[in-house]
Amino acid sequence: MDLEKTLYPLFKNIAFKFDAELAHELTIKSMKLLAPWVNNIPTDSRFQLNAMGLNFKSPIGLAAGLDKNAEAIGFLSYLPFSFIEVGTVTPLPQSGNLKPRLFRYPKEESLRNCMGFNNHGMDAVLKNIQNADRREKILGVNLGKNKITENVNAHLDYAKLYEKFAPYSDYLVINVSSPNTPGLRDLLQDSGLREIFKAVSVKRKLNPKPLLVKVSPDMSLEELSSVVNLVKEYSLSGIIATNTTIIPERGAGGVSGKILYEKAKLTRTFLLNALRETPEIELIGVGGFSNYEQILDFWKEGGKLVQLYSAFVFQGPGILFDIEKRLAEDMTRKKCASFEEFQSSL
Ligand SMILES: Cc1cc2nc3c(=O)[nH]c(=O)nc-3n(C[C@H](O)[C@H](O)[C@H](O)COP(=O)(O)O)c2cc1C
Repeated sequence: MDLEKTLYPLFKNIAFKFDAELAHELTIKSMKLLAPWVNNIPTDSRFQLNAMGLNFKSPIGLAAGLDKNAEAIGFLSYLPFSFIEVGTVTPLPQSGNLKPRLFRYPKEESLRNCMGFNNHGMDAVLKNIQNADRREKILGVNLGKNKITENVNAHLDYAKLYEKFAPYSDYLVINVSSPNTPGLRDLLQDSGLREIFKAVSVKRKLNPKPLLVKVSPDMSLEELSSVVNLVKEYSLSGIIATNTTIIPERGAGGVSGKILYEKAKLTRTFLLNALRETPEIELIGVGGFSNYEQILDFWKEGGKLVQLYSAFVFQGPGILFDIEKRLAEDMTRKKCASFEEFQSSL
């Protein structure tokens, strides 16, 4: 499989000549077109793991925001991602913030975006999900409130979205950590989050699915502790850490990629420690991962599932094949028959 060595550098060369958002749109369109022509690549069966009651074919997944409207599931699920998170989706369609709103820092393999939850709305996204060939990959849906919804009513948006997507997805994510919807991060405070968890829990009783909350790397340790307490109180399945970070000197929006790594790692380390006594609560690691060694570090710390975004944009599918190759080599060298065994050996 030479896709990563030949096609992607060529594709990137062309795509990076365009404005970042246009390149993104073209990529999604190409993926839609290519989907029927690509074959599944089998994953090494030793990579399987169980988390949140779901059986993952490997620990590597795609983070939210790349396929906001669930248009490219067919193509993405052919790549070595064991899980794909679509969205953020809001109840009503919305166009997001003014363009330009996506910027590249190629030397730092980082992006800055102030998209503002641009998406086609829950009805259109649901149709795409229903029509997608997922090739047995796990599908997560990332949920957000509409910009026009006041924070006091935010819980109603999240409850509505949960009810809509729970029957058609494997896990759901409450996203209140994007820096690009005014006031959204205020909902990460105890009272805002409690209202949302309470409202979603009512719907969740009727259709129980793994439910996670995605946090920001800009939160204080006190704020993170309060999220952990609420996650335990409302029996959520996990936390996703982290979303993008605000760096005012760079401009508006949230920064992802290598620049984010250290900050996101601090957040993850804190959370992994805070969750040590509750192994049933998963921590999905995302934010700045750009190589196998960093992921290995996360596994050593006790995390399992990892999501990528920026590294996939800058390195293409090559990073996925590289992670799989390195993991397979390490497992063979250590004579580990399962991911669990491998993680205990670290
Ligand atoms: C262009 C862009 C759009 C994003 N949109 C979303 C989104 O809609 N919802 C969300 O939860 N995260 C979104 N993210 C954040 C990513 O899911 C991820 O948390 C973040 O980029 C850090 O991972 P990375 O360093 O591997 O990119 C977006 C990131 C980028 C770069």
